[in-house]
Amino acid sequence: MHKPPHSPPAPPDEQGNPLEAYFKANRQGPGIWKWQHYFEIFQRHFHGFVDQPVTVLEIGVYSGGSLGLWKSYFGDQCTVYGVDIEKDCEIYNDAGVKIFIGDQGDRHFWKSFKAQTPKLDIVIDDGSHRPEHQQLSFHELLPHLNPGGVYLCEDLHHTDNMFALYLHQLALNLNACHKWQDNPDTPERRLVTQTTDVQALINSIHFYPYVGVVECNRQKVTELVAPKRGSQWQPFFE
Ligand SMILES: C[S@@+](CC[C@H](N)C(=O)[O-])C[C@H]1O[C@@H](n2cnc3c(N)ncnc32)[C@H](O)[C@@H]1O
Repeated sequence: MHKPPHSPPAPPDEQGNPLEAYFKANRQGPGIWKWQHYFEIFQRHFHGFVDQPVTVLEIGVYSGGSLGLWKSYFGDQCTVYGVDIEKDCEIYNDAGVKIFIGDQGDRHFWKSFKAQTPKLDIVIDDGSHRPEHQQLSFHELLPHLNPGGVYLCEDLHHTDNMFALYLHQLALNLNACHKWQDNPDTPERRLVTQTTDVQALINSIHFYPYVGVVECNRQKVTELVAPKRGSQWQPFFE
């Protein structure tokens, strides 16, 4: 089993960003259409999956070039799933690339998709860009992510984008506090609180221009603990 990252900055690479390099070199053949600043975001959140048996879904295939980008980046062990509403995208079925034709705004489509695919490590939503579709897809696919999985939604345009607002609200929920236990005599478990469902599942939520990223915990987190370490304490703060 691979060890997914929790978005540490990508290590410096003398070659630069391999995703961006692939994009820039892609002058012939199937087209890729990405905002240029996305490549650094992809590298930051995805680099720990490189050369692992990773399952990747991209919603929105268009001219097929991004499927090759993911295959090249993640390596031979990866499987890329592509979803598009346009039947013509079936031509991009290939070794290690499986295309599903359907509407990302249709829950029945996702039920059928999930029945035919293993759990996913990475989802990239670059489909209709409609906030209601982005939210529905997120709800359908978050439970279909492996532990440590990463959900990235592109093109959250405009300051009133409803899916971006939803993700911001979800991020605020990471700060929710169940009542915590106060254990003055057990410094190793000085404060302990049970996690909420959101904290149990989600490790972190990240925002960039037009992009939101949700990273799942590698294992379910059931409690948050604030131990105390040391032997000398000031009297003024308990
Ligand atoms: C921006 S393009 C994808 C670009 C591609 N990912 C790339 O990087 O080059 C958006 C794609 O989403 C597809 N699409 C639009 N509405 C959709 C929907 N409701 N469900 C699934 N795909 C949809 C379009 O047919 C189009 O191919």
